[in-house]
Amino acid sequence: MNDLVWQNLHLCPHGDPDETIADAALAVRDGKLAWVGARDALPREFDDWPREDIGGAWVTPSLVDCHTHLVYAGHRADEFALRLAGASYEEIARRGGGIASTVRATRLADEAALVAAAEQRLTALIEDGVGAVEIKSGYGLDLASERKMLRVARELGRRCPVSVYTTFLGAHALPAEFAGRADAYIDEVCERMLPALADEGLVDAVDVFCERIGFTLAQSERVLEAAARRGLPVKMHAEQLSAMGGAALAARHRALSADHLEHLDEAGVVAMKAAGTVAVLLPGAYYFIRETQLPPIELLRRYEVPIALATDSNPGTSPATSLVAMLNFGCTLFRLTVSEALQGVTRHAARALGQDVRHGALEAGRAADFVAWSVDTLAELAYWIGRPLAARVVRNGITVYRRPRPAAARSTT
Ligand code: NIG
Ligand code: FE
Repeated sequence: MNDLVWQNLHLCPHGDPDETIADAALAVRDGKLAWVGARDALPREFDDWPREDIGGAWVTPSLVDCHTHLVYAGHRADEFALRLAGASYEEIARRGGGIASTVRATRLADEAALVAAAEQRLTALIEDGVGAVEIKSGYGLDLASERKMLRVARELGRRCPVSVYTTFLGAHALPAEFAGRADAYIDEVCERMLPALADEGLVDAVDVFCERIGFTLAQSERVLEAAARRGLPVKMHAEQLSAMGGAALAARHRALSADHLEHLDEAGVVAMKAAGTVAVLLPGAYYFIRETQLPPIELLRRYEVPIALATDSNPGTSPATSLVAMLNFGCTLFRLTVSEALQGVTRHAARALGQDVRHGALEAGRAADFVAWSVDTLAELAYWIGRPLAARVVRNGITVYRRPRPAAARSTT
């Protein structure tokens, strides 16, 4: 069913603008790519398949947003105003605002309310070309509330045309009831919360916020070890506000990714290279908290550490719902090339999720998840800011989103 040849596409099969096929075709059988290549090389067996003409549009793999905190209640526009008046993100967190304020709101919300709020944000991502998304817990910080968040993430994966990968981030902040007892909270995370949630099938990976206002290296390592005992992959919020050595620790534990990394040093880069750990850069957070320390892009390039870009969509440091906008932010703020940025939201982002066999590239055998863009050149994807560019989003061979044409264009046809 739905067997179809998509033709007349300008294909960028791996998200690398230096590797494109001007007049390509994709044959889709049962939602999977049966063949990918130049249209004039399409094998005879597809001759009598129905055709869908894409009109010469640029087509890339669906984008992968490999770091989000999409599920939460409320927003933090009030804190934004405080920051505009001079308070820093760290000061607000130390005063009981920041993550703690979203925890209070999220604990009070029921699953239906959380689904409704997050579904709007997720829909914006999907209509922007995202076909796979990571969603972290971390605004519950007790077993019941973390379970609620992860169940909501799973429910979003059932309701929305996108692949959802869940990450347990119980060690995101110290909940008020454990004030002054961080080690006891880490016991709770490692010995009670993680095993229970993993047994319920709610956890695809485990993350920890290793930071002055998060958890120490020793506490973070205990979380990584607990994940390993469950056979779960790990990642880490590392070197965001200060250089703690978190990235090297994450690499020693074979982390899929270390994320943020503004304060990453050369030893950390070397460790990440050796472990194959992806550097996930989050230019939305860098921008929104007006960070001035740039991540060490030249070192990452020199050691050939794969770089991914993600939205970090969250109410405190990156209220962003466009991964395409992050292409522009990554190029403008971090001086990434368009090629680095595009590969950062396709194949490298898929690798950061440990899902590079499923997402981030268009090859025979993979899911037929792709986006047709209304641009003349791929560089436009990193150029426009806030302009809807995804003309058509296809998942498992089925069009799940089609951008309505403007009224003026409709009236002339
Ligand atoms: O990725 N750094 C920690 N966590 C989030 C922010 C969470 C929040 O402020 O609500 C981040 O930046
Ligand atoms: Fe984050």
